[in-house]
Amino acid sequence: MQNEKVLVLDFGGQYNQLIARRVRECNVYCEVHPYNMPIEKIKEFNPKGIIFTGGPNSVFLKDSPLPDKELFNLNIPILGICYGCQAIAYLLKGEVKTAPSSEYGKIIIDADNNSNLFKNVNKKTTVWMSHTDYVSKVPNGFKITATSNNCPVAAMENEEKNIYALQFHPEVMHTEEGMKMLSAFVLDVCGCKGDWKMDSFAKTTIESLKEKIKDGKVLCALSGGVDSSVAAVLLSKAVGKQLTCVFVDHGLLRKDEGDEVEAVFGPNGPYNLNFIRVNAQERFYKKLKGVTDPEAKRKIIGAEFIRVFEEEAKKIGAVDYLVQGTIYPDVIESGLGKSATIKSHHNVGGLPSVVNFKEIVEPLRLLFKDEVRKVGLELGIPDYLVYRQPFPGPGLGIRIIGEVTEEKVKIVQEADAIYREEIKKAGIDKSCNLGQYFAALTNMQSVGVMGDFRTYDYAIALRAVETSDFMTADWARIPYDVIDIISRRIVNEVKGVNRVLLDCTSKPPATIEFE
Ligand code: XMP
Repeated sequence: MQNEKVLVLDFGGQYNQLIARRVRECNVYCEVHPYNMPIEKIKEFNPKGIIFTGGPNSVFLKDSPLPDKELFNLNIPILGICYGCQAIAYLLKGEVKTAPSSEYGKIIIDADNNSNLFKNVNKKTTVWMSHTDYVSKVPNGFKITATSNNCPVAAMENEEKNIYALQFHPEVMHTEEGMKMLSAFVLDVCGCKGDWKMDSFAKTTIESLKEKIKDGKVLCALSGGVDSSVAAVLLSKAVGKQLTCVFVDHGLLRKDEGDEVEAVFGPNGPYNLNFIRVNAQERFYKKLKGVTDPEAKRKIIGAEFIRVFEEEAKKIGAVDYLVQGTIYPDVIESGLGKSATIKSHHNVGGLPSVVNFKEIVEPLRLLFKDEVRKVGLELGIPDYLVYRQPFPGPGLGIRIIGEVTEEKVKIVQEADAIYREEIKKAGIDKSCNLGQYFAALTNMQSVGVMGDFRTYDYAIALRAVETSDFMTADWARIPYDVIDIISRRIVNEVKGVNRVLLDCTSKPPATIEFE
């Protein structure tokens, strides 16, 4: 379907998805595949350019992933990033060394404006480094195109052979002109036109779903989040009442969220689907009693979710198709699996083994989040639903540090509702580029004074981040007077809270959620 494709070969870096996302931002279709994708398959894929990602390894180690040298003879432009850069130097007989200490964070480089990648960037530009090994000598035929105080080769290239390499990460937002560098590679070096568009996605997908499903029975686990909502509406437009959606309220949703989801997708909503709501709060609280470890909590919530869903699915009986709201980042994460696990993600992706069905349907599996949103709008789903902030599968369970109890859920729900209400009132949800904002319960208790009495209550943390990709994020500068109103209201109105803290860390090094 796409003529112009860029191939991202994954060496296990944390930012592999982000690279693909950035390429698609240039309106060029792009896929991520494992670093050892066979040469024949690569030729079949016929990419206009290949990008090697970063990765946690060192090229010197025995089992380190290395690209096939044959790739350098295909006459396809190559860009190596971080580990990818070192791999190029190592394979083409340059020299890679291990520094006594890692270089991590924002660095200013001196860029050579004669390089194709740096034509449009400032001579001194800020980039994000995260490495210990470095290229100490470039291979024959290469020239150095950027340096920094600590890094003799911050970038190198062999223009004649169209091989480019960057020691830093152009894909993360901390690299201020990274998008210019990547688009220079994709559009100028690879010669892509950048004409890939999403416009007809909904229409063609509904047609092909109709054709595939015919009169089959379809089951969907609906979370009320953007992905599963868009998937459900696509399916309902294709097969109407043949679709049944099951919505599990695990008691870890935001205030009133269960009712809101029911209002949209339930019998009185605009969509023609069968909707089943399961109120399973008690079961989840019981399972979480006494559990404090973040990963254990995530796993318990995920497993219990599957059990509840399984019970409901049994009542419905055999179905032909199971719908999943899988999106491209999920595909990349689960399919390649060499990156270090930061968090075990829970979404509705773990269901297949428990439901009796013929086939899985994943209509969004090649789309990124903002692309899913575009489809949602194209489907006529209301803006407030399409632009709803993402909400993690384990819900408030990972926004309460330590043990989850019904009382703590109530506290964080109330604080979060006040926070969201005031942000909306102040118009900041529209004026700032807020990707996500929420209240979390720190589980820390401290001394306060209210009236004439001593209190020993919880501290609520306010988190707000600016992000569009959710892989990296900056903390949002919400005006202090708005924070002031939120803080006062939370302490006055939410029983059990006597302190409000502001989280001012970006990602990396923090994550967006607390657990
Ligand atoms: P972190 O905390 O890793 O979160 O910076 C990045 C984005 O992912 C969301 N998130 C999840 N989404 N299941 C999900 O479907 C999960 O288990 C999960 N954990 C985190 C988080 O809200 C943010 O948007």
